[in-house]
Amino acid sequence: MLYKRHRRLRKNTAIRELVRETTISSKDFIYPIFVIEGENIKKEIPTIPGNYHVSVDRLHEILEEVIDCGVNGVMFFGLPEHKDECGSSAFDKDGIIQKAVRKAKELYPELWVITDVCMCEYTDHGHCGILHGHEVDNDKTLEFLGKIALSHVEAGADMVAPSDMMDGRVAYIRDVLDSNGFKDVSIMAYSAKYSSAFYGPFREAANSAPKFGDRKSYQMDPANINEAMREIESDIEEGADIIMVKPALSYLDVVRWARDRYDYPVAAYSVSGEFAMVKAAASFGFINEKAIALEMLLSMKRAGADIIITYYALEASRWLREDL
Ligand code: PBG
Ligand code: ZN
Repeated sequence: MLYKRHRRLRKNTAIRELVRETTISSKDFIYPIFVIEGENIKKEIPTIPGNYHVSVDRLHEILEEVIDCGVNGVMFFGLPEHKDECGSSAFDKDGIIQKAVRKAKELYPELWVITDVCMCEYTDHGHCGILHGHEVDNDKTLEFLGKIALSHVEAGADMVAPSDMMDGRVAYIRDVLDSNGFKDVSIMAYSAKYSSAFYGPFREAANSAPKFGDRKSYQMDPANINEAMREIESDIEEGADIIMVKPALSYLDVVRWARDRYDYPVAAYSVSGEFAMVKAAASFGFINEKAIALEMLLSMKRAGADIIITYYALEASRWLREDL
């Protein structure tokens, strides 16, 4: 009987490496960093092990590692001193993100510095925008997102990443940046951002959980993929340079659709809950952490992601180096 001998190409490492279709490298990763007000702070985040709350005066310690690992991009999240109704410390010239960006660009001008543009870490109610009663007011929020993005870019950010999920925010931010002389600054849009339970550890880490209700009226329903395509399409029309799918692991079908339908770079954000599950299982000795983490990251690339935003960026880069 004639049948195909697929195993011929799996015989040893040499041939397996020659026919390998997908690879991962430190160059695919963006590392999220949580910057906190205060001095001399580098404190491990309990829900995101091996990641830190870091004050600006010690930010260089983390950035040195980023550079040493060969990771090209970082994304900043801020923990401000002060929260209020309209998240005013998010667009303060001397806010936590603005200080972190200035420091990072001063130390490493070549490092690609991205900022998360949202309001939930800065509002006292913890929602991602300006409230009208118990609803987030879309168009009012746009004005604030514009101010926040502009202040990040004035501090030196290379790219802004709006994660609020208001309609029209990419167009609004693009317009504000263009009319202030920042035509060359790019936007990575959290285009298909789902209302997900996988954000739990992040909300602990960023102190950004909503004080009432949930985010279902602005983040996407996990059941939908056609809607994700509409979100991506609008963001591209509005001027996004990179489109993002978030979370990653449970949404790899969305990553694949995005890859097949749009010829724009696709970023997958492997969120805090994905990371925390692996860390927790590994701490019980139930799984091989290195193997599982690298397999997960590989699967995101295979699904079509060009860029992976991951809390494993540094560790995975070291593991990949070990394996060379
Ligand atoms: C802010 C924001 C969140 C994440 C990134 N930006 C949380 C949320 O929407 O509640 C989640 C990241 C993660 O879980 O790793 N809007
Ligand atoms: Zn938010």
